[in-house]
Amino acid sequence: MGEPIPLAQSRTAVPLATVVQNLQPSGIREFFDIVASRPNCISLGVGEPDFVSPDAVIQAGVEALRSGYTHYTGNQGFLKLRKAISTYLQNEYSLAYDPETEILITVGVSQGLDLGLRSLINPGDKVLFMSPSYVSYRPMTELCGGVPVEVPVTAESDFLIPLEDWSSFGRKGIKVILLNYPGNPTGTSPDKQYLEEFAKIAQKFNWYVISDEIYADLTYDRKHIPLATIQGMKERTLLLGGFSKAYAMTGWRIGYACGPAEWIRGLYKIHQYAMLCAPTLSQVAAIAALEEAGEDKDKMKEEYCKRRNFFVKALNDLGLECKLPAGAFYVFPKIEATGFSSMEFARSFLDKENVAVVPGSAFGKAGEGYIRCSYATSLSDLEKAITRLERFLQKGI
Ligand SMILES: Cc1ncc(COP(=O)(O)O)c(C=O)c1O
Repeated sequence: MGEPIPLAQSRTAVPLATVVQNLQPSGIREFFDIVASRPNCISLGVGEPDFVSPDAVIQAGVEALRSGYTHYTGNQGFLKLRKAISTYLQNEYSLAYDPETEILITVGVSQGLDLGLRSLINPGDKVLFMSPSYVSYRPMTELCGGVPVEVPVTAESDFLIPLEDWSSFGRKGIKVILLNYPGNPTGTSPDKQYLEEFAKIAQKFNWYVISDEIYADLTYDRKHIPLATIQGMKERTLLLGGFSKAYAMTGWRIGYACGPAEWIRGLYKIHQYAMLCAPTLSQVAAIAALEEAGEDKDKMKEEYCKRRNFFVKALNDLGLECKLPAGAFYVFPKIEATGFSSMEFARSFLDKENVAVVPGSAFGKAGEGYIRCSYATSLSDLEKAITRLERFLQKGI
């Protein structure tokens, strides 16, 4: 793995763009760096699977290289992969996207997010998302000249904007809503009724929605419901999906964006100049994931589900309140009662017990009072983490 570039704040003569100068370093990064330097540290910090990619995926990637798949692909990505994604969405959700015109292969959901925003946002346009949120939403919005509208949400409303509050944003010049469910960092996922009510309001106010559904396949107790399946939403939704999480393929950098042909053409226009294409071997590997790694995916999901059930119960037993999250691999317990800020809590826990969690404040101001723990780590490490947490709470921070 490459060394991180130091984020020194020192002044240099390089006239960085103002928007870049003003970008804040990610609050998660600090913890990655510390964890990397500490032996025997249990990390509940990282947002990526502890599993390696399924065998079929690795095999397909290696064979792709050996067979000469070392060139660019067409800008839109292999048609075979787009067809496989289209078939998957059809079979799984009865959601029809034309692989020729309505699907673009991207470099992870990260690039889909960037393209989705850049294709719609004029300077000053407002982008609404709930806070706490995935760390990239604010900076990505700012980088394309948009104005982030962060709406604080709490555990009491399941980390969702209460339905009766949505209309109040209708007259505030919002152009895009950025949704993410199951959510990072909270694991929350709205039910069908919530999505249907939201959909009515989105249509009334002509909002366009970028729906980051990267954790769709990691929904545990019920089936995920893509926003685009809700009446009237397919025409105004960009569905972002990917392979990083459910297939344990973070390093392959592969994802997809699906939406109305006109919107996908907009993404494509940027992508053809800014990226050319997603990595060729990863596209081949992604086809193998969809065609051959379904069982591996299910097994990993089963394992996450066991860990979630264990961990949530253990946290609540220790008095750190949290609801059972519907999906993803995070829990977001309240630590407010300890009287410490989320940063103090995370630093002290790391210092005293060698366990890394992410302070809720890394996900926006509204994340204060919580910590994010990832259970994409072995059950035995989770058990050890709970023992250490119990000791930590008993001794006092
Ligand atoms: C909500 C969310 N969206 C997007 C991403 C980035 O995914 P990818 O690896 O596909 O770029 C992440 C990664 O943690 C995430 O949590």
